[in-house]
Amino acid sequence: MSNSNNQPDWHAIAEKFDLWLPQIKPVGDELIKRLNAQQGDHILDLASGTGEPALTLARTMGDSVKIVGVDSAQGMIDVAQAKVETEGLGNIKFQAMPAEKMSFDDNQFDKALCRFGVMLFENPQQGVNEIYRVLKPGGDFALAVWGEAETMPVMYWSYEVFKDKVPKESHPPLEKITSMGAPGAIDTIMANAGFSEIKVERHTFHYQFDTFDEYWDVVEASDIMKLQFDALKESDRAVVRNEVAGFAKEYIGESGLRVPHDFLLAYGKK
Ligand SMILES: C[S@@+](CC[C@H](N)C(=O)[O-])C[C@H]1O[C@@H](n2cnc3c(N)ncnc32)[C@H](O)[C@@H]1O
Repeated sequence: MSNSNNQPDWHAIAEKFDLWLPQIKPVGDELIKRLNAQQGDHILDLASGTGEPALTLARTMGDSVKIVGVDSAQGMIDVAQAKVETEGLGNIKFQAMPAEKMSFDDNQFDKALCRFGVMLFENPQQGVNEIYRVLKPGGDFALAVWGEAETMPVMYWSYEVFKDKVPKESHPPLEKITSMGAPGAIDTIMANAGFSEIKVERHTFHYQFDTFDEYWDVVEASDIMKLQFDALKESDRAVVRNEVAGFAKEYIGESGLRVPHDFLLAYGKK
């Protein structure tokens, strides 16, 4: 089963999502740096997945901060909360709820962050309106969204390779994933929600694997494209792999497979 817009079934793949965390860590580090959390802050992490970057923030800031992570997928919350309990962290907890309808009172949080969530919301505007509502006046919101399709090689390859082999309802969700990448898109949503001092910066990080095989193993093992693979004829499985390998060739060098991807960091103040 998939949720809207051909997204992965986040609940079902939660146990496997951590396979991607080492790849996107530089984005979390950048977000944490820009969030500039202070002792005493009450912080909200939206679409918190299996807990990053909120857990890194909790470990580094210690008990003077309080952090809450929310995600609409219960499976993600269970994985994140299990980490809290294993590590005995007292300053962070995770709760299942959609960004568009949070159960928090107005003006609760000093800071909010969201890594690769806003463009996936069922209703991004409503989600960002909610974030504005629960922030205190003067509170900060820092988020990361993917760039445009042509700046996202691994997602673009998958789209190109699958689009002629599976029905439309199983196409990779390239349009949704890149929907905040166009100039002005995320700024407009933040301004509509009421944020001021909005800044948007374009950054690049690299997906980095020793070999193409290592990359493809993670794609398959993480089930991130289960919807697409399930819709594929068995005889096309090897074809898909070979076609993606063909796209990847130009990014293989001495340090293995290294693929640049753009993301946007956006900031706003309530
Ligand atoms: C790409 S993952 C990112 C997870 C985490 N922020 C990270 O960077 O590791 C996207 C997450 O957004 C969550 N999500 C999608 N739509 C949502 C919504 N409307 N409200 C809250 N979470 C949502 C998914 O369940 C998934 O965990």
